[in-house]
Amino acid sequence: MTKESQPSGPDLTSGVALTQFVDGKLLGHVGEEEVLLVQDGSEIFAIAAHCSHYHGPLNEGLMVGGTIRCPWHHACFDLRSGDAVRAPALAPLDCWQVEKRDNLVFVREKRVGLIQRGKPPTSAPEKIVIVGGGAAGFAAAEMLRRREFRGSIVMLSSDSSAPVDRPNLSKDYLAGSAPEDWVPLRPDSYYNEAGIELRLNSEVVSINARHVTTGKGDQVAFDRLLLATGAEPVRLSIPGADQPHVRTLRSLTDCRAIIDTSKTSPRALIIGASFIGLEVAAALRARDIEVHVVAPEKRPMERILGPDVGDFIRALHEEHGVIFHLEDTVTAINGQRATLKSGRTLDAGLVVAGIGVRPRLALAEKAGLVIDRGVQVNAFLETSATGIYAAGDIARWPDPHSGERIRVEHWVVAQRQGQTAAINMMGMREKFAAVPFFWSQHYDVPINYVGHAEQWDEIAIDGNIRARDCLLKYKRKGRVLAVASIFRDLASLQAEVQMEDEMIQSV
Ligand SMILES: Cc1cc2nc3c(=O)[nH]c(=O)nc-3n(C[C@H](O)[C@H](O)[C@H](O)COP(=O)(O)OP(=O)(O)OC[C@H]3O[C@@H](n4cnc5c(N)ncnc54)[C@H](O)[C@@H]3O)c2cc1C
Ligand code: FES
Repeated sequence: MTKESQPSGPDLTSGVALTQFVDGKLLGHVGEEEVLLVQDGSEIFAIAAHCSHYHGPLNEGLMVGGTIRCPWHHACFDLRSGDAVRAPALAPLDCWQVEKRDNLVFVREKRVGLIQRGKPPTSAPEKIVIVGGGAAGFAAAEMLRRREFRGSIVMLSSDSSAPVDRPNLSKDYLAGSAPEDWVPLRPDSYYNEAGIELRLNSEVVSINARHVTTGKGDQVAFDRLLLATGAEPVRLSIPGADQPHVRTLRSLTDCRAIIDTSKTSPRALIIGASFIGLEVAAALRARDIEVHVVAPEKRPMERILGPDVGDFIRALHEEHGVIFHLEDTVTAINGQRATLKSGRTLDAGLVVAGIGVRPRLALAEKAGLVIDRGVQVNAFLETSATGIYAAGDIARWPDPHSGERIRVEHWVVAQRQGQTAAINMMGMREKFAAVPFFWSQHYDVPINYVGHAEQWDEIAIDGNIRARDCLLKYKRKGRVLAVASIFRDLASLQAEVQMEDEMIQSV
């Protein structure tokens, strides 16, 4: 082992004093493994120091009621068992035995078999079918098996690949800095081992009383059904949009096609300056491709994050060489030449349209479910049809924090809804009450966002956006609806907890 790769902190097997803890935590190691000691009241726990999602540093996280939350994307782990109790982490943390002796804390051997699941209710159904192999669908299937659901699980996905880490497709994977094995949420062998029958290239075309039918004519019976069909990119409707070098990005296949085209295209045109468009811009800059962004708005992301963050995002991308053509649109693409409304022309061998997504509602509509700009679900994520649930980008649910019915397109929300739907499909009754969270990454700048603010009348800015050290509160009538932050991870977690507390008080 080189000196640089030595794990940090003291050797915890040799004993450390409680006085060495800072804010209830102490980072050390056991052999080559980094271990975090956490003091919760009179108890001390020893857990793996890094989050099982993307390796976030848990020593910078927040302890809340017997759990620790990751500073990067707000996963949550049970301190006692290491269980990943909230997505985006799905795998538990390792835990170690702790011994207190002579005012010292010693870490001993690893503990195993800590996670007690209890048994599913005796009324649990026999057959669960999941339509969709994305964030919500996968998290649901995984949670069913985690909670020891013994019945059959069939996951039908119109994708050609097993569930993937979709957020990575506009970030490291597209930039060429993530290896292939980062992309699948689980290796192919997992599905067999877990008893999850994953059928790829299987588009469900109709739902009857107790079975679904695929485009190939297969009928699959269910006792409970989860619809998690996600969203699809809005396509350009301008002349030339149907050419092969004009792409959208949703699936791994889409991402690979963009990568292939980028290899022979020194210049790319991105249409749309929202999250996907600008993450793609950043990823393509990492591939040293000249990137132009055309979008109708005055400032990127202003509608979601406000004018100051919009200006910052624009400047950040310009620092990295992105060329913006704002307050303009593409009216036609003739071969490699795009014509803009302003009359300007741009030549690009790769065009990526990131102009928004539409929830995939056709199946739910056809089945006669109540639709309200999404599939309407109740607090338990059940649709208007008993036994049929919906989760993820398609679901519009009663959000207790905003007091409104909302539908969002966030990875973590989709996963957490999938998990709650799984628990309810087994016959339990758990309300979905998580505060919405999303993140976005532009070069080395992460933006975290908790809550939901479609409209606000004030943005209170703490810190300095340009210095990449800020917390913004989006308020309506004085009430904080959402909080965005850059490198204020702990404050972002605290804002989440505060919103949860407000929710509990208002019930
Ligand atoms: C490139 C990219 C990057 C993103 N980055 C972020 C990010 O950084 N942070 C964030 O919070 N969110 C991000 N998102 C959004 C996030 O990925 C989505 O909110 C999330 O995937 C929604 O999960 P879902 O399960 O509802 O839908 P999806 O993950 O889209 O899964 C839907 C699944 O349903 C299948 N399907 C659809 N119709 C049928 C049918 N009729 N029959 C069978 N199968 C069907 C699809 O093939 C797919 O497998 C990103 C999205 C994209 C595309
Ligand atoms: S790294 Fe911990 S939640 Fe993503």
